[in-house]
Amino acid sequence: MLLSINQKAVLTLLADAQCHSGTEIADKIGISQSAIFNQLKKLSELGLVYTTVTDRGYQLATTLQLLSQSAIEKKLTEEARHLIAELEIHDVLDSTNRYLMDKAQKTKKNSVVCFAEYQSAGKGRGGREWISPFGSNIYLSILWRFQQGVRAINGLSLAVGVAVVRTLKDCGIKGIGLKWPNDIICDKKKLAGILIEASGESDGSCHTIIGLGLNFYLPKQQAQHITQEWVDLNSIISGDASPLRNQFCSMLLNQLMPLIANFERDAFKHYVDEWREYDTMQGDEAVIYQGKKKYNGIIKGIDDDGLLLLMKEQGGLITFASGEVSFRQT
Ligand code: BTN
Repeated sequence: MLLSINQKAVLTLLADAQCHSGTEIADKIGISQSAIFNQLKKLSELGLVYTTVTDRGYQLATTLQLLSQSAIEKKLTEEARHLIAELEIHDVLDSTNRYLMDKAQKTKKNSVVCFAEYQSAGKGRGGREWISPFGSNIYLSILWRFQQGVRAINGLSLAVGVAVVRTLKDCGIKGIGLKWPNDIICDKKKLAGILIEASGESDGSCHTIIGLGLNFYLPKQQAQHITQEWVDLNSIISGDASPLRNQFCSMLLNQLMPLIANFERDAFKHYVDEWREYDTMQGDEAVIYQGKKKYNGIIKGIDDDGLLLLMKEQGGLITFASGEVSFRQT
């Protein structure tokens, strides 16, 4: 689905988060005041937050920088640009991961990058929904075909976490760390998550969808059903992160594309030390949930293959290839 030209024009006018009167918008765009009302109502159904200021007009809750293909491409490194076969930006998708999963069946192309402004059915780990309101966060998926099968991409999601932390650090954002297996967190609250979906042979070729969701500005109304503790960039920097959006996407791709392209050669061992540097869980008391099973203990970091190490309460070290970690309240 595409936004209409009028919807985009209204958004462009309101993007500065200042108050604009209905008359001003109507004059500039050439549509009626009731059409403006209807356009904004449709956008609010996609999660856009604005207020109607009595007798004054409309005002967005935060500034808006819509994703722009040219702005993102402009700041790509030579290397990243060469590694991307196709870059797509969609206004509305059900899920960027699902979209590329379908596309992978229909095309032989490798290295397709897809962003969306809004996801109606964003997919999170463990079957959860990834809340994806319009225009304020990053929803990114990358289709990449690996030659040596799913076994060769063990640890890829952890390595992708390293690339995301690097990007945030390069933007000057402090206090960011990792929570196994692949949450990007700040102050024990989730800022971003990674969902990798792979399909193919264990040792033949396989196609992979590498999905990342990162909160720039997550309106409280939208987030009320999120069960995990979460945070967005606006609150981390106590300001407005949206002017960074396109630049952030380029910086992210500059980190991610070479990492993905070289992963079969480098493997997770190339990133394990850096992952440990960003690890925020080492020494914490935690509960690991694996299906219906539950393990209490102290986190001892990860092994060289990215498996989680837990010292059980009753003694003995166990490793986990998957599971959900929950910190114990002390
Ligand atoms: C998690 O639960 O931690 C993983 C969240 C991954 C969300 C991203 S948003 C872009 C991509 N498309 C999806 O449907 N999911 C991933």
